This record gives sequence, structure tokens and C-alpha cells, in this order.
Amino acid sequence: MRIPCHLAIIMDGNGRWAEKRRLPRILGHRRGVETVQEIVRECRALGVRYLTLYAFSSENWRRPEDEVSALMGLLGNYLRSELTSMLEQGIRLKVIGETTRLPGEVRQVLEETVARTAGNREMTLTLALSYGARNELVRTARRLAEAALAGRLAPEAIDDQTFTEALDTAELPDPDLLVRTSGEMRISNFLLWQLAYTELYFTDVLWPDFSRQELHQALLEFGRRQRRFGLTGAQVEESH
Ligand code: IPE
Ligand code: IPE
Ligand code: MG
Repeated sequence: MRIPCHLAIIMDGNGRWAEKRRLPRILGHRRGVETVQEIVRECRALGVRYLTLYAFSSENWRRPEDEVSALMGLLGNYLRSELTSMLEQGIRLKVIGETTRLPGEVRQVLEETVARTAGNREMTLTLALSYGARNELVRTARRLAEAALAGRLAPEAIDDQTFTEALDTAELPDPDLLVRTSGEMRISNFLLWQLAYTELYFTDVLWPDFSRQELHQALLEFGRRQRRFGLTGAQVEESH
């Protein structure tokens, strides 16, 4: 199986999973957390170096207040319960997004987990929280403009690399594969810059039902893709 160096996932369908069973949506999110635990473990075991999970978007703040606060509660509990296992598995936690909008206690446990796992080298798990790609791009443009205004950066020195290194995802390579569950075929404001040449994989399976086997399906399909980056198929074959 060809293993992507960086796998990104839009974990969608928790709400529908619950609604189909006439359960409150939050129970779908709770089951979604169990899937996260299983998929993180499996990615680490398969040798994925970077796993990025879209957990809460900048637009998700507009959901009903009780759903938002339940999600924040789940997030805090997840982080508190996973620290030991992250340390055991050599997983380093990273966060992208406008984290200043998160509740204080969630920020605190996030900061602690990021700090305690900073030395881990097996896999980088990045959580996209209060994340929106346009928001990230705007914050990045602002930072670069401030640096230019302060005389620390010449506008003509801004290129692909400068920009890439100023994003929230600075230390991450671009995703090789993006998986979205629940049948929606859209990006929903995730990693717009970074997905330029990423392979996309969509499945109808709802996130709480996304199993190791489903992940293997996605990886098998990824292995069948020819990534051309603008070249001809013959050129790509020659370089192998
Ligand atoms: C994804 O599941 C999790 C979050 C966006 C937080 P949803 O809650 O979007 O589930 P559906 O799309 O309503 O089924
Ligand atoms: C995308 O799912 C965000 C996350 C999975 C965190 P949404 O459910 O928010 O996306 P839309 O609204 O269907 O595009
Ligand atoms: Mg959704």
C-alpha cells in the first residue's frame, strides 16, 4: 500500500449519523471522537507522518449554541484523555486555525498538550480548530504586510515559499491525499492553498462509520492515482 506522507481528512457526517437513529446530534459527535481515536492509531501504525483533521470550522461557530458548547466539551475531554496515548505512540500535536476564539479552558489544555508532545517524532497530528482557509490566508497576508511595513520584508521577496512558511501550516508538507466522508463533494474552506495538487477522495460513509477498512480503501485508491503535477504521463513514468 502506498502511504501518503500527509493525509488530511474532512470528518463529516456525525450529525446525520445520529439523526438517522433519531438520536441527538451530539451523540454522533461522541461516536465521531471514537473514530478519531481509531484512525489516529491506524495512521500512526501505517507510517503516515502527518495527519491533519478538520474538527471545527470558522463557519461552525454559527451552529446552535448548545451544539457548539457540546463540541467544545468533547474536544477538551478528548485532549485530556489522549495525552498518555499520544506520548506512548510518539505523536506530536499541532493546531491550526484562529485558536484565540476557542474557550479559555480548551485553549489551555491544547497549549499543554502541544507543549508536552513537542518532542515526539513518529507522527504529527494537526487539529484544524476554528479553522477556515480564507481566514488563514487573510491572517497570513496581514502578517506579511506588517513585516513589509516594518521594513523586515521586501514585497518583491514574497514568493510561494515565503507565503507557505507564513501560513498556520508552516512546518507541514502539502497534503498528498484528502479524504472527505459523508458524500459531500466540496472543500468547505479547508486548506485552500495547501490542496493545490492534493489527490481528492470522497466516500459516502459517515464519519462515525469510517473504519480502518474504509481508510485502507482510500489508501488503495490513492495508490492507483498517477500524480502528474502538470507534466505528461510519460515524463512522470520516466522519472520513476
Ligand atoms: C462533522 O459532522 C463534524 C463537525 C462539523 C463539527 P457534522 O456535524 O457536520 O455532521 P452532518 O454534516 O450534519 O451530518
Ligand atoms: C466541514 O464540515 C467542517 C468539518 C468537518 C469540521 P461542515 O459540515 O461544516 O461543511 P458543510 O457546511 O457541509 O460544507
Ligand atoms: Mg457536516
